[in-house]
Amino acid sequence: MYLDRVKNKMNPPDSVKIFDTTLRDGEQTPGVALTVDEKIRIAKKLNSLGINVIEAGFPAASEGERESTRKILELGLDANICGLARVLISDLDSAIDCGVDYIHTFIGTSPLHRKFKLKMNKEEILTKSVDAIDYIKDHGIKAEFSAEDASRTEFNYLKEIYRAVENAGADVINVPDTVGVMIPSSMKWLIAELKKEIKIPISVHCHDDFGLAVANSLMAVEAGAQQVHATINGLGERAGNAALEEVVMALTVEYGIETSIKTKLLVNTSEFISRITGVKMPPNKAIVGENAFAHEAGIHVHGVLEKAETYEPITPEMVGHTRRIVLGKHTGAKALKSKLDDYGIEMNEKQFCDVFDQVKNLGDKGKMVTDADLKAIAESILGKAKDEIVKLEGFAVMTGENVMPTATVKLKINDQVKTSSKTGVGPVDAAINAIQDVLSETEDIELLEYNIEAITGGTNALAEVFVVMGDKNGNKATGRSTREDIVMSSVEAVLDAINKILILR
Ligand code: KIV
Ligand code: ZN
Repeated sequence: MYLDRVKNKMNPPDSVKIFDTTLRDGEQTPGVALTVDEKIRIAKKLNSLGINVIEAGFPAASEGERESTRKILELGLDANICGLARVLISDLDSAIDCGVDYIHTFIGTSPLHRKFKLKMNKEEILTKSVDAIDYIKDHGIKAEFSAEDASRTEFNYLKEIYRAVENAGADVINVPDTVGVMIPSSMKWLIAELKKEIKIPISVHCHDDFGLAVANSLMAVEAGAQQVHATINGLGERAGNAALEEVVMALTVEYGIETSIKTKLLVNTSEFISRITGVKMPPNKAIVGENAFAHEAGIHVHGVLEKAETYEPITPEMVGHTRRIVLGKHTGAKALKSKLDDYGIEMNEKQFCDVFDQVKNLGDKGKMVTDADLKAIAESILGKAKDEIVKLEGFAVMTGENVMPTATVKLKINDQVKTSSKTGVGPVDAAINAIQDVLSETEDIELLEYNIEAITGGTNALAEVFVVMGDKNGNKATGRSTREDIVMSSVEAVLDAINKILILR
């Protein structure tokens, strides 16, 4: 909406090329190392996603890099397959020998890189860069040139070196914000100024040290950059590179700029990369995170159920995601009703209120109620005895090291309150013994079967207890309860079964 107000201050292209560096900069993510086979699988996935240029690796770095680059080339993918190389003939040869159709060559240009890393002056760097472009072009290969640490390079020298490589025949110049020091306004200024000097396409390569890689990439495009370097899930050296899925969706939706990316495959690709690299995405990761289209607050859920756009900027389907209604402490009745409807669970008002209370209760204890939790809660409430002849009035249990587990129950049976304390091998056993003791004067109901299951993982998982009880007349009944406390679940399940038997009689 407000974009219209600033459109006249932008100079974006109609379409932007996506240069994916997941296999190169992404592999520089601390802790990530990919096998040749994994690199091949990733390249295929990136190609299906519609990437324009896949940076397959840094062939001069190792035999493994050369092998994977060669094997990726053998796949005959639609994307350009690029190899990274320093402006050294030996590096360029390594890439050329692999058969690449695109070389991304680079050299540090900032005072820091000149003095401490390369120990070279400006002229030497410029000459080596031009020689490298000449060499690549002599081999009939597409050449992209990066002035490494461009964002900390003197502007006049940066212009000079980019002009020189353009004159030498470079096809693309790339502007790396190597240590992520740009802010959106400075990036916009830099690219706009370079546009005045350079006729070939300009590309950007932003790192996320200040969390600005995506914003800086977009600003570069606003100023006229025609290509963006990015990685799936924002993988990359240190804090990573610009996240491809975020750049692409912002370009597509916010700017209306075309890319070749099949956006419906973004979530699937992100999950694949996460699995293969072992780098998990935070749930709140934009576009692809588990919570990107999850709604919890009652007000939001109400809005989304009426019209999804109220609380969603794009549909989840656009990126291959799914909308999720999450139950927790902010859940409203509408959200719960819609969830139960989704599962075809019908219940009366009293049962609905019981489920609602249990969900809220769990939420207040800081627990998120998963779909599996909800189904178990609903099932146990739906399966509850219609009447309570035996009611739990109070319960306490004591257990620990060198302490005999002891439980005390207070039950109301037909308006009479009775109490018993019993020990057992554990707190559950003690509790069941105490219940049976209270009932033993009048009843003969025995526990025939006891099963317990954790619904979801974790120490605060809901425990579902299922019991079968029977009396001497052959009456049998099941009891079920779902709670986060195993002992309480057991007590409730046992009482549920007892009530069913008493009603049967
Ligand atoms: O961040 C960087 O500067 C790089 C270069 C190799 C372009 O990754
Ligand atoms: Zn980088």
